[in-house]
Amino acid sequence: MSGALAGRRVVVSAGPTYEDIDPVRFIGNRSSGKMGFALAAAAAARGAEVVLIAGPVHLPAPDGVRRIDVRSAAQMREAVLAALPAEVYIGAAAVADYAPRSVAPGKMKKTGATLVLELVRTPDILAGVAIHPQRPKLVVGFAAETDDVERYARGKLVDKKLDMIAANRVGVPGSGFECDDNALSVYWPGGARELGPAPKTVLAEALLDLVDTRLQVHRSA
Ligand code: CTP
Repeated sequence: MSGALAGRRVVVSAGPTYEDIDPVRFIGNRSSGKMGFALAAAAAARGAEVVLIAGPVHLPAPDGVRRIDVRSAAQMREAVLAALPAEVYIGAAAVADYAPRSVAPGKMKKTGATLVLELVRTPDILAGVAIHPQRPKLVVGFAAETDDVERYARGKLVDKKLDMIAANRVGVPGSGFECDDNALSVYWPGGARELGPAPKTVLAEALLDLVDTRLQVHRSA
């Protein structure tokens, strides 16, 4: 097995998170998990030891991957941090930014004409990994943007102290959530590359080629 990933641990988070409101309701999002699962499968095929932390998705585990199923952002964070140390972390999950302050123990009954839910910010898993004492050599994020893709993505690259970020435009047909195809704009300090439109399996290979190159740059620095 050749390549910078062979024999190294790669942690990938994928899919949505569900934040429970009561025993029958939750706040979720439309992430299918396909991009993260494709990355996990491609990294395993390159000989990496892959830990895939999956939110609630209907996808089979790729061959040769250790899969850990989680539900909430808090559970995902715990599982990701427990999977360190690693050579690479790829945060491909669509983590909820806010979760209900508390989970009602019983089903909430309808009473008034309106209902106000209090939400609190979830911790940023990706930013936490990037400043962790066991920081992976390469921390790669995703950014879902509707407009001003490069400005927002590069902002996240700097703010979250990442090595690379893959931005996808959401809200346009043929790209993003719930799709087999996607197009990514990938940014790193001093560089950029457009990938696709292409099937997510093809994009996963192309993104791992960039990860491989950046890893080699880091190792020789
Ligand atoms: N992310 C994370 N933990 C969170 C929120 C986001 O790890 N609580 C990660 C995602 O996995 C992704 C990256 O941060 O790799 C960017 O997610 P995105 O939703 O595009 O950005 P946000 O940081 O949530 O910012 P905003 O929603 O304001 O655009």
